Amino acid sequence: MDVHQILTGLYSEEGRQDPYPYYAALHELGPVAPVPDRGEHRSVTAVAVGYDAVARILRDPEFFKQPPPNWRDHEVLRTLQTSMMFVNPPDHTRMRQVFAKAFTPRRLGALEPVVARVVDTLLDRMAEAGAGGTEVDFVAEFAHPVPALVMAEFIGIPARDLAWYRDRVESIDAFLDVAGKTPERLAAANSAAAELREFYRDLIAHRRGTPAEDLISGLVGAVDAGDVGLTEDELISNLVVLFNASFVTTVYMLSNGLPILLDHPDTVAALPGDDTLAAGCVDEILRMQNPVHFLARAAPRDLDLDGVPVARDENVLLLLAGANRDPARFPDPDRFDPRRTGPASLAFGLGLHFCLGAAVSRLEGRLALPRLLARFPRMAVTEEPTYSGSLFLRGIDKLLVTTGG
Ligand code: HEM
Repeated sequence: MDVHQILTGLYSEEGRQDPYPYYAALHELGPVAPVPDRGEHRSVTAVAVGYDAVARILRDPEFFKQPPPNWRDHEVLRTLQTSMMFVNPPDHTRMRQVFAKAFTPRRLGALEPVVARVVDTLLDRMAEAGAGGTEVDFVAEFAHPVPALVMAEFIGIPARDLAWYRDRVESIDAFLDVAGKTPERLAAANSAAAELREFYRDLIAHRRGTPAEDLISGLVGAVDAGDVGLTEDELISNLVVLFNASFVTTVYMLSNGLPILLDHPDTVAALPGDDTLAAGCVDEILRMQNPVHFLARAAPRDLDLDGVPVARDENVLLLLAGANRDPARFPDPDRFDPRRTGPASLAFGLGLHFCLGAAVSRLEGRLALPRLLARFPRMAVTEEPTYSGSLFLRGIDKLLVTTGG
């Protein structure tokens, strides 16, 4: 297969369900491959799949994020392009500093009992729903509400608004997929962004009057006191992006992870009391079934990437999920090994934009998965799972299980 055939296969329905054979085929061609100027992938010049190549580009602060040309014309793009995730230094540095202060070890420690409480409440509910061998949807009952409730509490979003919120997040994520740029999806994402901005404007006004112990109250106080270099509009953009980033990614970490763990009963049996193993499981799940399959960066000047010429301002597609299965870095890459040594996977990115919430989702996984399997040791998947159909955020949306309890 040549690059064109591989990328066409990757973007196909079948490729989205199982992209890994296509990543393996790309590894055969080398760490970086030139992209022919055709079809859906015309906006990128090269595709990087080798671990070292992807890591080198992400670590290089001169590679940058390219805004879409018409971003000022659309609410969704205006929101994204005024948040830390999508901007370059110096704006990125300024915004990230403000939010990084909220992700301190102390705040993370304070989140631990919140995660445990949320998880235990949901396990009680799942025990009831699954009584007598009734099938339950693991995503609806657990993988989705764990991060939704934890992050809602952390950020300060009322739990009653979460269902409403989820539909808006889905519209934006559908647009962000590599093949999602249709006029219908853009229109839906624009309305979702407008509604979310309105939602945060109201919430900020409310917290201004009645501050609480959450992230929004802290940030509003700091913005109003002039302590941080952030306008209210930027605060709103960053809150939209922060919650979006924190949410479906972690749902998929849990839903993609469960079938892997259930296929490894010896590992599950060894989990109780072994926090290092639990952490290893989470990292290995993220390496093998990373929810974020690709990122893109633009070249700061004409350059050569492992023999592939890339001109200034041209984009390189970085296949994180492919790099995570690079046989040169992860021997026997398709094998689940929670005690693997070697480099960290690229599931959370690297460099300037390295995931701000990596420790939060690792904490959620490390606590939630062992508690779940201790409570339901005979849990079983009853139907072949299907994946979201997106490569930007790839994961299991529905997973029928019996609790065995
Ligand atoms: C398993 C769960 C998660 C995965 C796989 C994940 C993945 C990523 C990746 C790959 C990036 C880098 C984007 C880039 O370089 O363009 C990123 C950035 C980011 N993530 Fe996560 N993430 C997860 C959970 C979270 C959580 C829980 C939060 C918030 C609490 C969060 C907040 C962010 C933010 C704010 C950024 C942008 C950082 C910046 O641009 O400086 N993420 N994430």
